[in-house]
Amino acid sequence: MAKDKTQYVCSECGGTSPKWLGKCPSCGAWNTLVEQAPAAAGVPAQNRFGNTFAALGGASELAVLAEIEATDVARTATGLEELDRVLGGGIVPGGVTLIGGDPGIGKSTLLLQAADALQNAGQIALYVTGEESGAQVALRAHRLGLERSQVQLMAEIQLEKILATLDTHRPAIAVIDSIQTVYSDQLTSAPGSVAQVRECAAHLTRFAKASGTAVVLVGHVTKEGALAGPRVLEHMVDTVLYFEGDTHSSFRLVRAIKNRFGAVNEIGVFAMTERGLRGVANPSAIFLSQHAQPVPGSVVLVTLEGTRPMLVEIQALVDDGGPSPRRLSVGLERDRLAMLLAVLHRHAGVASMDQDVFVNAVGGVRITEPAADLAVMLAISSSLRGKALPKGFVAFGEVGLAGEVRPAPRGQERLREAAKLGFSVALVPKANAPKKPIEGLTIHAIDRVDEAMAVVRQLD
Ligand code: TYD
Ligand code: MG
Repeated sequence: MAKDKTQYVCSECGGTSPKWLGKCPSCGAWNTLVEQAPAAAGVPAQNRFGNTFAALGGASELAVLAEIEATDVARTATGLEELDRVLGGGIVPGGVTLIGGDPGIGKSTLLLQAADALQNAGQIALYVTGEESGAQVALRAHRLGLERSQVQLMAEIQLEKILATLDTHRPAIAVIDSIQTVYSDQLTSAPGSVAQVRECAAHLTRFAKASGTAVVLVGHVTKEGALAGPRVLEHMVDTVLYFEGDTHSSFRLVRAIKNRFGAVNEIGVFAMTERGLRGVANPSAIFLSQHAQPVPGSVVLVTLEGTRPMLVEIQALVDDGGPSPRRLSVGLERDRLAMLLAVLHRHAGVASMDQDVFVNAVGGVRITEPAADLAVMLAISSSLRGKALPKGFVAFGEVGLAGEVRPAPRGQERLREAAKLGFSVALVPKANAPKKPIEGLTIHAIDRVDEAMAVVRQLD
């Protein structure tokens, strides 16, 4: 068998085919064949599981776990505090970070700022741009006030050239903007295809580990919100960060989805300004829209993002629906919304079967914690009744299928943050009610959904 030919490998069974087929000839699965680079000369052909024992070389040394010294990884702070916070302290030599987000959200801006800060701190930072020309990047640098930046720039999309350059210059950090534009000569598939993205990311990862260069890959996000191409990318890299936020508002969140070197629940908060992204050290009040008077359908939720409590306005609109009423949610889970509507009906007698229900978390934040349930439910019932909650009202708590309201983690901290920002009435699960009163805050503690509704009606 010729060894220098590209082959197609089934991602299900590992079976191979010399040409692309819709159906795997070995296991019959559809659309599973992915192009693979030819094996290097001298390396025996792979078996159907992708390895040969001969090619594996000599056996490795073993070490007893207890005898290995536990050392924390060294980190280099990027100088952007909010970015360092999500990264768990800074970039890790040899670490590979994937950063995803919608087009225009600020990925290139953030990374150029970080590269410049690192360069100023005496590290070599190399920025590989595949999407924009050098002139375009320079234009952005001007806008950021970095016209004298010493960051090394390379406009290149061919993997082999990028690797050769990285190997020659050995930067401390290399930004690849974006991984979808890079292609390898070894494959015939188009740049951006699953095979190319996977192959290029694998090579860059291998380079990072071998050289100690920290590699940052920029990745596009599909409409569904997943990193385009391969989920496999997420498995390959050490850290996955997502950029969130509404491009119409200036606030941006950077969230760690995976981090081998730090906590995953941290977020970094930035504001996009005329001169780039600026960290927001105290973000608790940025996701509130300003109503002069309380309006029906609006409830402020105290949510916890990483270690920081934040106040986010939840809005609901309930309106007469057609024969098949719609349930839409932005920033909140839709399945959870359906569940909350059922609980509201069954356990509090609030029916919305024939109504359209829309809910929205203000400012483009994505809220995944169940502690948002109570606020969502209250926003819905408020819109349905056409009655606003009182001024300065906040809520949190998880709602269960049996109509119970369960405590949220770190309730005291949430309440204190709300009080600090001037909120005066809180509706919370009983277990979250503080033993000592919190100054300025009237707390209504409840156990069940119907009790919550009763409290709200009293407040009308
Ligand atoms: P960019 O970093 O190019 O986004 P991405 O790489 O994720 O596609 O950000 C582009 C947006 O940011 C664009 O709409 C302009 C805006 N922007 C500012 O508001 N201020 C700035 O200083 C810069 C550089 C960009
Ligand atoms: Mg960009």
